[in-house]
Amino acid sequence: MNKQTIQTEFETRYGKPTLLVRSPGRVNLIGEHTDYNLGFVLPAAVDKEIIFALSPSSDKQSHFHALDLNETLDFDTQNFQKSEKTWANYGLGVIDQLQQLGHQVPAFSCVFGGNIPQGAGMSSSAALECGLAVGLNELFNLGIDRVDLVKLSQKAENEFVGMNCGIMDQFASVFGKDRHALKLDCRSLEYEYYPADISEYKLVLFNSAVKHSLVDSEYNVRRSQCEEGVALLQKLGENVASLRDATLPMLEKYQSHFDEVVYHRCAYIVKENQRVLDACQALANQDLATFGQKLYESQHGMQYEYEITVPETEFLVDQTRDEPAVLGGRQMGGGFGGCIINLIEEAEIDRIANQLAQTYKEKFNLDLEVYIADIVNGTEIMIDD
Ligand code: GLA
Repeated sequence: MNKQTIQTEFETRYGKPTLLVRSPGRVNLIGEHTDYNLGFVLPAAVDKEIIFALSPSSDKQSHFHALDLNETLDFDTQNFQKSEKTWANYGLGVIDQLQQLGHQVPAFSCVFGGNIPQGAGMSSSAALECGLAVGLNELFNLGIDRVDLVKLSQKAENEFVGMNCGIMDQFASVFGKDRHALKLDCRSLEYEYYPADISEYKLVLFNSAVKHSLVDSEYNVRRSQCEEGVALLQKLGENVASLRDATLPMLEKYQSHFDEVVYHRCAYIVKENQRVLDACQALANQDLATFGQKLYESQHGMQYEYEITVPETEFLVDQTRDEPAVLGGRQMGGGFGGCIINLIEEAEIDRIANQLAQTYKEKFNLDLEVYIADIVNGTEIMIDD
């Protein structure tokens, strides 16, 4: 699905578009489930993206067309409800947030489509929210800055869609930078770019093709376990507003007061925050071996402490541990399936991917999809050429 296809479809349906927007999906190099604990994450926007064509509507209705699904929602921006079309709710949520912030959203037409794999944990939903938010902001001169566009997109997902996600995905989609990883402090929203020009290595995603229905419910369970840990530390007299403020010695001191599972969840978050900082340092030093090691450590924590991995993703990570061309790997995103992200020597990718696809098929009877993730800029208005 490229820009031309979207533009042509728009012209057929609604005339010439006023603007085109590109909004990418993301990978997360490291820092999983740390965002809602106000810690650190290290995502990057990648070349799997959604393209939007937009213009004010020529009638009173708004027209929102998902080209990949060939589905349209016609609606009134002044009076709409949650749709049965799941995809449409990400867009409606954005309009709802804009209105809650006091902005006028006149009727508009939009056609969008892209190549972000669904259910792979590459944040197609964030790309959809952010692309529409950036597009409507430009189309109707709303004057909202990019951080606020990120925040309202996240809120659209929390409140309208009902998924209690953190801020990482939307932030990465909007603030991603070509050939750089984005270190985000999820408390202050300060961010810093680290060169991820990883010479002869590439970020490779293997899609397990597993998406357990557990993901949403277990995601919320993890969130409340973290909150439980914070509440306990506060009760014990510690000055912590989130797990960001906790340390390992602090946790160890009070271990006997903790429910064992909650203790492990909290320990994982505290260690994962440190791993993000270590991984950033490794990138700055161009020390890819240490960087890869951090990915494996993160996987270990997700498997044994946070318990969000599944046999399929564990298998995929374990299969290539002895390959010298693979520097590290881990399950990526919310958990319970989705993609694993690996750092692999470019010349060896085909061989390793073919071998892995075969063993994966033998073991789980599932087809392995492979994506090379090239790091690109965040959401932008496209210059017409
Ligand atoms: C999902 C959420 C993010 C983040 C990750 C886990 O992708 O949308 O906010 O919490 O899971 O790191």
